[in-house]
Amino acid sequence: MTIERVGIVGAGQMGNGIAHVFAVAGYDVLLTDVSQDALDRAVALIDRNLTRQVSRDLIDEAAKSAAMTRIRTTPTLTDLGKTDLIIEAATERETIKQAIFEDLIPHLKPDTILTSNTSSISITRLASRTDRPEKFMGFHFMNPVPIMQLVELIRGIATDETTFRACEGVVERLGKTSTASEDFPAFIVNRILMPMINEAIYTLYEGVGSVQSIDTSLKLGANHPMGPLELADFIGLDTCLAIMNVLHDGLADTKYRPCPLLTKYVEAGWLGRKSQRGFYDYRGDAPVPTR
Ligand SMILES: NC(=O)c1ccc[n+]([C@@H]2O[C@H](COP(=O)([O-])OP(=O)(O)OC[C@H]3O[C@@H](n4cnc5c(N)ncnc54)[C@H](O)[C@@H]3O)[C@@H](O)[C@H]2O)c1
Repeated sequence: MTIERVGIVGAGQMGNGIAHVFAVAGYDVLLTDVSQDALDRAVALIDRNLTRQVSRDLIDEAAKSAAMTRIRTTPTLTDLGKTDLIIEAATERETIKQAIFEDLIPHLKPDTILTSNTSSISITRLASRTDRPEKFMGFHFMNPVPIMQLVELIRGIATDETTFRACEGVVERLGKTSTASEDFPAFIVNRILMPMINEAIYTLYEGVGSVQSIDTSLKLGANHPMGPLELADFIGLDTCLAIMNVLHDGLADTKYRPCPLLTKYVEAGWLGRKSQRGFYDYRGDAPVPTR
């Protein structure tokens, strides 16, 4: 099947990056969000990120303006009904995602493929609530989308081979690399990454080290490009907590229990970079550790 028009739901950190890479690869993109503000910010950010790519000679000016003309936004979810592929990238909450698919379904073409960029929620369960579980799968981009090479493709129990191959072809056209993952809590990347981040937060909580010493230890001692607390702020602490809860609930093992300090930061609204404060305070010229 041919995929030319792509609908993206959610214009946050991930949605804007996904719109960016699809537009550069020549797809027509229709982006929606419940917040008009998020849509306006996403378009402005895509413009700035494309300009940066031009200044680094990664694309030329003509490719940038062609990409910008391929991106349209709408506040109305059901406008996405005419697209060939939907990528849902809204807030990591199952009820929100379910409601989006429920509202979309009556407006979709019969062969539209539905996907979710969820970091952890069961693809099989999301699919089972739709009219097309065989045309439903996980399409998991990494953050920041224009830079990160990997896309995890996740088969739900009912996903058919044609749908999987079609999505694999899309990843190839984006110039990225896909891996296949089975549908178990948090898939591959976050099954491994998030317990490490949670452990770093426990290390802080138990007073083993400060924010600075934990991040420096992993950067210089394990050759990680970013420290785990810096990375948690980058991902979003609400998203980290949501993923840990999915691991804890889905695998029923206490080794996945979210650190109480992570919960406290989220309760404070200190969600990391996106709210200007998390394990670091980003309101000044340089990030300052908050503990
Ligand atoms: N942040 C990461 O590093 C990362 C990486 C991979 C995957 N993800 C996944 O991507 C998804 C989005 O994460 P994010 O970091 O972009 O979050 P975000 O908070 O930056 O953005 C979420 C957006 O969804 C919008 N939204 C909420 N409800 C909506 C609805 N009903 N309809 C349309 N839009 C709605 C919000 O207004 C917001 O703009 C989540 O499922 C997350 O798990 C995140």
